[in-house]
Amino acid sequence: MSPSDPRLASFCNQIAAMETWKRLKVDGSILFQRNSTDPDREIWYWQSGEMTAAQGVIIFRRKDSSEYLKKLGFAESGPTSYVHLLAVFPGSQNRGIGAKLLAHAEEAASHGSSVMSLCVSEWNENARRFYENYAYRPAGRSENCIIQGNTEILMRKPLSGSEADK
Ligand SMILES: CC(C)(COP(=O)(O)OP(=O)(O)OC[C@H]1O[C@@H](n2cnc3c(N)ncnc32)[C@H](O)[C@@H]1OP(=O)(O)O)[C@@H](O)C(=O)NCCC(=O)NCCS
Repeated sequence: MSPSDPRLASFCNQIAAMETWKRLKVDGSILFQRNSTDPDREIWYWQSGEMTAAQGVIIFRRKDSSEYLKKLGFAESGPTSYVHLLAVFPGSQNRGIGAKLLAHAEEAASHGSSVMSLCVSEWNENARRFYENYAYRPAGRSENCIIQGNTEILMRKPLSGSEADK
């Protein structure tokens, strides 16, 4: 799906209705504005054959996103691809869909980039554990990020696959 796909607006409203984004006070129109105006963002969704609607979405950028990370308060991130958003809709979680979407983004980015990064709210323990299981490690903290009082953790994973990088 490209950022100009007409389905993006309804995806954004669905994502904004999830607890994670409600807590960050990010509404559907903000998500739509951010994700429809950057042509370098790739939007992929998962829909099993028997389902009538998408079950999860990942939005990522293969190109270096260190300048974007500086704006979020992570000064020294180094060159990195970046997962802007990963959401598996309630009812479809814990079936391996998040892992498949994340693996897809990593594979796509690995052709030009040696690191994937993402941010996760400090309070979002389920998501932090999920990312740790897939070899992401904490690499920075930004306080009062997104909204006042919220702390975001930067997590990084080497994409080269060498044992030395793990
Ligand atoms: C975090 C999130 C993206 C994970 O996606 P998911 O599809 O639920 O994750 P998976 O199913 O791939 O993995 C979750 C667990 O299910 C297990 N699992 C994987 N495939 C499975 C299957 N076929 N059957 C049963 N369990 C399975 C995994 O081992 C994993 O267990 P673990 O956490 O103990 O390692 C999802 O829960 C989500 O969208 N959460 C809310 C939004 C959010 O917080 N997003 C992150 C913002 S940074």
